[in-house]
Amino acid sequence: MIEPEADDDRPAGDRPPLVTPSGAAHARILSVGSYRPERVVTNEEICQYIDSSDEWIRERSGIVSRRFAAPEESVTDMAEAAARSAIERAGLSPAEIDAVLVATVTHPYQTPSSASLLAYRLGSAPAAAFDISAACAGFCYGISLAADMVRGGSARNVLLVGVEKLSDFTDLHDRSTAFIFGDGAGAVVIGPSDTPGIGPTIWGADGSQWEAIVNKKSWIEYRDDESRDWPALKMAGPTVFRWAVWQMSPVAQKALDAAGLATGDLDAFIPHQANIRIIDAMVKELRMPAHVPVARDIAETGNTSAASIPIAMDRMLAQGEVAAGGRALLIGFGAGLAYAAQVVELP
Ligand SMILES: CC(C)(COP(=O)(O)OP(=O)(O)OC[C@H]1O[C@@H](n2cnc3c(N)ncnc32)[C@H](O)[C@@H]1OP(=O)(O)O)[C@@H](O)C(=O)NCCC(=O)NCCS
Repeated sequence: MIEPEADDDRPAGDRPPLVTPSGAAHARILSVGSYRPERVVTNEEICQYIDSSDEWIRERSGIVSRRFAAPEESVTDMAEAAARSAIERAGLSPAEIDAVLVATVTHPYQTPSSASLLAYRLGSAPAAAFDISAACAGFCYGISLAADMVRGGSARNVLLVGVEKLSDFTDLHDRSTAFIFGDGAGAVVIGPSDTPGIGPTIWGADGSQWEAIVNKKSWIEYRDDESRDWPALKMAGPTVFRWAVWQMSPVAQKALDAAGLATGDLDAFIPHQANIRIIDAMVKELRMPAHVPVARDIAETGNTSAASIPIAMDRMLAQGEVAAGGRALLIGFGAGLAYAAQVVELP
């Protein structure tokens, strides 16, 4: 038995106070990167499996095409491509990343996380690493976590990736979901800042609508199912549509109010790319001024869930639709039904 040291017998009042971390005054997005898989999948191709048409899909969702990853291309592969670009653009080395957060619902292992493998592959290990399961809200949840980590002192530089390979979890014969989803990855590095770069997050979840977007089976049910019916996603489309249109605009407005800004102060609106009609309805509800560019990447990406906002952010910056340092309102929403919104300054 190890003898207790004399110090251990000291009364609690005599012990030194616990050292607690202290972080940066503010946090900001230092850089963004993205990755789109090579293969373009047209509506015509999707319609080989469902009774639908290019015209219906364009009209009801705004989607013209989406990208599907190659069969051997994994969630972590796509995350790595986006992350390398973001880290390089931040002017950091992978070893300077203290924490790796991956927002995804399509990493095909319950455990371990994609983040842990990603950190190792990047050369960021032993950075803290974990996945975030908040579906299409995952990226905006991650922004909030990362900003708090930087300000709280638990990390100096945080890599946040939104990545999905939804083609693995979509039933190509299900006409209510087959045309919606796509694959891709987007990444940001969030680090310390002298000036405010990330506004307050308005977030939440409504578990009473837990079944509105859900895997058809749990892994346990899948294990016990002799037909081995793959637990692809199923979605109550009109329920989600109504929830998004009526309940998400007020959340976006609250994020603006919390940041002390009005729509006219924005340089971009980057909502989750779920359906062009949802985006247009939000623009109308929020009375977004015509001069504020709005991400409408869904036409060529489909719905890439957690990846949709950083992919759109990277493209808008690259194409000069918005300048570095511009203020963007972000809002993610989806399965859970989880949501999160905040105003950020763009890298
Ligand atoms: C899925 C979605 C595009 C469907 O559009 P919708 O206008 O709500 O369509 P509905 O499901 O009400 O169906 C309308 C009609 O089109 C038909 N239809 C449904 N899917 C179809 C398809 N792929 N092709 C052709 N017709 C289709 C329906 O059968 C229905 O026909 P009916 O009126 O004769 O019964 C829409 O509900 C949506 O975008 N929901 C939210 C999805 C989303 O954002 N998900 C992710 C959240 S992160």
